[in-house]
Formats: sequence, structure tokens, C-alpha cells
Amino acid sequence: MKNLYIITTLIFWLAIVFFWLARSWLPISHDVIYSDSVTVYSLSVVAKHNKRTDCWMAIHGQVYDLTAYLPQHPAALRVILPSCGAEASLAYDTKNRSKEHSDTADTLLKQYEIGILSH
Ligand code: HEM
Repeated sequence: MKNLYIITTLIFWLAIVFFWLARSWLPISHDVIYSDSVTVYSLSVVAKHNKRTDCWMAIHGQVYDLTAYLPQHPAALRVILPSCGAEASLAYDTKNRSKEHSDTADTLLKQYEIGILSH
């Protein structure tokens, strides 16, 4: 009976170690996760899209591809460009100078959503 207990415990821990090791061997990227209806991006993925010709932002947990919108944005490019590739909630909420964007801006923003930010 004691042997059975020892063997079962051993198998249990071997299984735990196996799955733990297998997890790091498997070629799964945790940077981009696809679920049925939504794509989840890490901030390190968003950070790669940090230029005028390829501009993503994370705003309040959503990820937006704003590349097409940049030329239409009313303020100078230098105002919005630093937010490309960044967590830009504060910049969006304040326009970098304690002023909120309008409801029109919020509606526009929705059009550019491509996924959500991972925690
Ligand atoms: C995250 C960085 C951003 C910054 C720092 C920023 C800043 C500004 C500034 C300085 C203005 C012009 C001055 C003013 O109207 O008060 C402005 C206007 C505007 N921005 Fe942005 N913006 C950002 C992102 C966005 C995004 C992502 C959208 C929409 C997709 C957007 C939509 C608009 C619109 C529609 C206006 C006209 C005024 C309004 O409706 O509030 N902006 N923004």
C-alpha cells in the first residue's frame, strides 16, 4: 500500500514536470493570441508599430491600427506620433494638454480597433 502511494505520488510529480517543460518547448507565442472573435496583443507587439507608416496604439485596453487615420488627424503629426507603438490612454484622454477628445473622436476611434491588449 505504501509503495502504491509512493509510485502514484512520483507519477503525479513527473507529469507536472513534464507539462511544465513541454510548455516551454512548444512553439507557442504568447505575444499574439487568437480566440474565436478577438485578437489579443501584448504591449511588446504594439510597440513594434511605432511609426508614421505603421502606427498602432493601446487605448483603454483596446488595440487600434491608426496608420490610415494619422494623415487625417487635426493636430500636427508630431503631437500624435509619440503615441504610436505605445499605451496611449493618457495622451488620448488629455490630448497631451488636459483636454478631452469629443464623442466624434471616440466614434472614429472604434473604426480602427483590431484587438485587445493582453494583461
Ligand atoms: C493618442 C494620441 C493623441 C493625441 C496626443 C491627440 C491630440 C489632439 C490634439 C492636440 C487635437 C487638436 C486640438 C483640439 O482639438 O483640442 C486633436 C483633435 C482631434 N483628435 Fe486627437 N489626439 C490623439 C489621438 C487621436 C485619435 C486616436 C483619434 C481618433 C481616431 C483622434 C481624433 C481627433 C479628433 C476627431 C479631433 C478633433 C477635435 C475633437 O473631436 O476632439 N485623436 N487631437
